[in-house]
Amino acid sequence: MNRKIVVTSALPYANGPIHIGHLVEYLQTDIWVRFQKANGNQCLYFCADDTHGTPIMISARNEGIQPEDLIKRIYAEHTQDFAKFHVQFDNFYSTHSDENRQLSSQIFKSLSDKGSIVKNEIEQAYCEKDNMFLPDRFIRGTCPKCKSENQYGDSCDNCGATYQPTDLINPVCSNCGTKPVIKKSIHYFFRLADFQQQLKDLMASGYTGKSVANKLDEWFSAGLKDWDISRDGPYFGFKIPGEENKFFYVWLDAPIGYIASCKNYCDKNGLDFDKVWNGEEYELYHFIGKDIMYFHALFWPAMLMGSGFKVAKRLFVHGFLTVNGVKMSKSKGTFIKASTYAKYLDPEYLRYYYASKLTDGVDDIDLNLEDFVAKVNSDLVGKLANLASRSVPMLGKLGGMLGSVDAAGKELVNQLAAAKQQIINDYEKLDYASVIRQITALADIANRYVEVNQPWATLKTDAEKTRTTLTVILNAVKVLAIYLKPVLPVFVEKIEKILGVAAMTFADVESLLENKKINEYVRLAERVEKQKVDAMVEESKSESVVNNNQVEQKPLVTLDEPLEAECTIDDFKKVDLRVAKVLLAEKVAGADKLLHLELDIGGITKNVFAGVSQAYQPEQLVGRLVICCANLQPRKMKFGVSEGMVLAAGPGGKEVFMLGIDSGAKPGQRVH
Ligand code: MSP
Ligand code: ZN
Repeated sequence: MNRKIVVTSALPYANGPIHIGHLVEYLQTDIWVRFQKANGNQCLYFCADDTHGTPIMISARNEGIQPEDLIKRIYAEHTQDFAKFHVQFDNFYSTHSDENRQLSSQIFKSLSDKGSIVKNEIEQAYCEKDNMFLPDRFIRGTCPKCKSENQYGDSCDNCGATYQPTDLINPVCSNCGTKPVIKKSIHYFFRLADFQQQLKDLMASGYTGKSVANKLDEWFSAGLKDWDISRDGPYFGFKIPGEENKFFYVWLDAPIGYIASCKNYCDKNGLDFDKVWNGEEYELYHFIGKDIMYFHALFWPAMLMGSGFKVAKRLFVHGFLTVNGVKMSKSKGTFIKASTYAKYLDPEYLRYYYASKLTDGVDDIDLNLEDFVAKVNSDLVGKLANLASRSVPMLGKLGGMLGSVDAAGKELVNQLAAAKQQIINDYEKLDYASVIRQITALADIANRYVEVNQPWATLKTDAEKTRTTLTVILNAVKVLAIYLKPVLPVFVEKIEKILGVAAMTFADVESLLENKKINEYVRLAERVEKQKVDAMVEESKSESVVNNNQVEQKPLVTLDEPLEAECTIDDFKKVDLRVAKVLLAEKVAGADKLLHLELDIGGITKNVFAGVSQAYQPEQLVGRLVICCANLQPRKMKFGVSEGMVLAAGPGGKEVFMLGIDSGAKPGQRVH
């Protein structure tokens, strides 16, 4: 039975170019969509640009243009970038559309009618020079906890503290440098907690994978808070019906953009929108990155439940891209734009490489540039393209006519075909890494057949045996091409052209190509040259890219943290780690996360403030041997000077584990 499937990817912000980090998501989704189609299902893929919010308004202002003009230009860039990477949306729309305005009002109204939206007065920072309320991320100042300067209004990059922007010392507007004032305003709030039970039931029904569900449990235990869904003007977005100068917060109308994109498509194509978006007949899936889980696992399903829409069958969450093991970095030239990549390298290589790395997990995925070159050259070019590039021209010498597959050949082809169900299952559950491993292993088997049968040698002596061998090889190529098609659509299209067959699907795996004429060889894939990669990295160093994590819309919630930029062995040697004995541990009045510790580091006593009070009671620590960074520059904190740092690991809160050391060690001993 054919399934009917609707798929979305998160909507990219319209204030910057698509980069290779984004592409993890759009390629993961596109491969899945193409797989569904190749497996005989109907599948519609919807996306759009996310066009509203303060950062986009400010970017436009800084360029001296209207936001409408900015989003138009970005739309053109984004669609071109996606096309280059063969990301094939059924509709790529915009949240700045009539459909979205209408649906946003409709959903807002039905949530209001049900009592799920309330009004409250809040106090917020306001810039009198820019005449606007300032989102947390548009305020900078000194961290109230560790006193490090130039931190955001919601959290400190240095000590990780989270706070209210009003807690910042010397706050300024990050746009103009003026000190903000505090102003009151009425905002609209969505009562998320009303949906707690329904959301828990949704999770229990398998809406997300295990590790995401665990994260959600943490959020449930922390308590669901009301969500502020309005912003005062000036704001680029949709006006709230009945209000003069209040707008929907961008994150309210952004996910509704999924629906708007679908509606726009249905209206244009004569489909019944209610059926496609809301009907039971269609399965709905969302693909997102782990940084926007809160929105898609809590707010979004709650909004849908509260306004009578269907909730997706599953939310697929992927991890973040790292390059050479660390966060993408502009100075390293690894913050690479999609368009810059495409200037130097074949986009299908990135599709292949990401596929070889992607699983259904939320772990970060690493693009190691050396490994990228090696894998593409050895597997894609060396194993897969090679099978065709050696045999097609040889068969050309025999008139380009396929013969038939003999018994030994059938064994090989059957062996390849036997992997079909497993490969289908792995695609379905997003384990593309497993798909690619199987395909390469099968290509190895096919290449061994080539080595054993030596068609180049028999070509001079036995034309018909050679024809049989080449027929077998090309049938193997055909099967592998079908398996690869979701990942490498253009590569496989070229193979289809060579073989003279119409677009293949998984249903074609078992049929044999025999006694037919094939076409001339066209080049399938070039080797990657290291210099091209270097040139791409070099060019990326000089480009400016918007890092969307730096903007207002993202909360600081992720499953785990990608690595920071490299630290050299010399940097590392500077860190003097010592065994320390906890002499005294006490709570710090007024700081709910900190414990004050007195440490004995071999005769020297150091005072340290450690953020571990949710994980340890003071009495658990006294007398323990821990590891301490003993030469940390003393830092003045609100509660005193901290003269060191105790090593601990864990996600935070209750789960912080101080690294202990066994009792044979002496305080002051260096840790190696
Ligand atoms: N506009 C919001 C999404 C709204 S959905 C209703 C947004 N935009 S974004 O441009 O910042 O990110 C779009 C998608 O790309 C997100 O799912 C995000 O997780 C993903 N990625 C952005 N940078 C990424 C990496 N460096 N690595 C992997 N995925 C990344 O969030
Ligand atoms: Zn200002």
